[in-house]
Amino acid sequence: MDDFYRDYILDHYRNPRNFGHLEHPDAVAEDTNPLCGDHIKIELRVDDQGKIADIRFSGKGCAISQASTSMLTETAKGMTLEAAARLTKDAVLENVGIGISPTRMKCAMLGLRVLKSAAIGTIAAWPDEE
Ligand code: FES
Repeated sequence: MDDFYRDYILDHYRNPRNFGHLEHPDAVAEDTNPLCGDHIKIELRVDDQGKIADIRFSGKGCAISQASTSMLTETAKGMTLEAAARLTKDAVLENVGIGISPTRMKCAMLGLRVLKSAAIGTIAAWPDEE
């Protein structure tokens, strides 16, 4: 593994960005990796333009799951809900910057699954709230 990316992943694991909780979030989603039981929750604050104004995540998991979710929160902040809902696994792999083995792919994609669930759920709920 390239040293830069190893250090980058470890930095996000040890000092996760946007870790914690929001007061009165507009959207919350959570999910568990069924293979290991690790869990991630994501909370969003959405502005009146439909953009992610703030984001927090919490939970526990391996270095890849925590680091990739930390990186993803930085990617998602400022995005529209539609753009966040369209994020693909390529965005996560680009953030992580290293090849992920098939057995670790569920770890790397756990945060993405939760973010998309929060974004899609909020898009679906939005018209009802107007
Ligand atoms: Fe559980 Fe990676 S080992 S999410």
